[in-house]
Amino acid sequence: MAKFLVQKSAPLKGEVKISGSKNAVLPIMAAALLTEEKCIIKDAPALRDVEVMCSLLESLGATVEKDLENNKVIIAADGDIACEAPYDLVKMMRASILVLGALLLRTGRALIHLPGGCAIGKRPVELHLKGLKALGVTIDEEQLLRGIVDASADKLRGNTIYLDFPSVGATEVIIMAASLAEGTTVLENAAQEPEIVDLANFLNKMGARIKGAGTDTIKVEGVEKLKGVSHHVIPDRIEAGTFMVGAAITKGNVLIKNIVPDHLKAVIAKLRECGVEISTTDEGMRVRGDRKPIVSTDIKTLPYPGFPTDMQSPFMALLTVANGPSVVIETVFENRFMHVGEFNRMGANIKTEGNCAIIPGDKNLQGAQVVATDLRAGAAVVLTGLVADGMTEVSQVYHVDRGYEDFVEKLRTLGANILRVEE
Ligand code: UD1
Repeated sequence: MAKFLVQKSAPLKGEVKISGSKNAVLPIMAAALLTEEKCIIKDAPALRDVEVMCSLLESLGATVEKDLENNKVIIAADGDIACEAPYDLVKMMRASILVLGALLLRTGRALIHLPGGCAIGKRPVELHLKGLKALGVTIDEEQLLRGIVDASADKLRGNTIYLDFPSVGATEVIIMAASLAEGTTVLENAAQEPEIVDLANFLNKMGARIKGAGTDTIKVEGVEKLKGVSHHVIPDRIEAGTFMVGAAITKGNVLIKNIVPDHLKAVIAKLRECGVEISTTDEGMRVRGDRKPIVSTDIKTLPYPGFPTDMQSPFMALLTVANGPSVVIETVFENRFMHVGEFNRMGANIKTEGNCAIIPGDKNLQGAQVVATDLRAGAAVVLTGLVADGMTEVSQVYHVDRGYEDFVEKLRTLGANILRVEE
């Protein structure tokens, strides 16, 4: 098992290029199953989750050319497609559920054991299923009680669907399914994340007719067939936000390249409230934590365009060293404070009550043995390790490998004192 050894580091300096978005590439790869023609996906990040999705598509019968060294994946789902997703792969990644719509459209059935993924809450799929039922899909309720999604449909028909919560995954599954359904689907209270827009752009290039992606109402006019296309995945806004916090927490000066500032409005606003200087140039975004002391602030996570839950733990790392107390409220996931215990091992003295965390700030952190409790929390404890006295040893870093391409190498290029060791 690999570990990260992190030492107190000099301020991060230099430039870093952000990789393609994990959360955009996964649904796009699933959508490639909707056509028999070849899809070329560029700027695919070399991540464990992308490898798992490649294996899943292969196991379903697609031909996958994986060239992750060059950030390219070519998918051709031209043969017979199986309807059952193997549990061994599904349990490794919750995003496996994204193939649900494509399996139904290609085979008339989808059989998926409910997935694992980050241990940050119950993460049910009833909204995905509610949407599919409205499109004419039958769900075996007895199987569902046993944790198996067994869905079948001869034909999908457009409908109006209201999501009780703007779930990212449900929105993606529904727009994929609606693209090849008969008639028009209107999805209300849809998720508005940039990754939804990227998926809709990909599907529209394939010949789908989707309007309104990026707003709370998405209209999909079903078409008969989709074709193969080539597509560049958007930059990863969470990776970008993590490096922005890295520059801030170490009082560094970093130029972040391949970034879409519009995707990061909430994070930029909050970093500015903390005293971080951020400017955008043609080259990218310059983030300077070396100008002013870090000032405390409060954050509340919300669906996009609110403050992203995936940035909650990296931002909390910054608040541990701010000049005073801050409050963090997590509203998206019910169990996303596991990193608090790890920060506290380093002396952060954070208290939680329900979905609310109080961070006293103004702490001199001490290196400690900590665990990457989930993907983003793993990155967050690395950031605190960069400013803690002594050595921080981060275990279970396979979580970080799921979502950050070359994390250690990128940090080292910026001057961070971090090593990956294999045990
Ligand atoms: C996606 C992202 C993940 C991010 C999350 C929220 C991918 C691969 N992952 O996950 O990084 O943290 O969005 O921005 O894109 N919910 C229900 N019922 C459902 C579906 C969801 O109650 O049927 C709840 C979940 O339990 C959770 C919340 O809604 O509390 C958000 O989930 P959702 O938006 O679906 O997140 P994911 O698509 O799983």
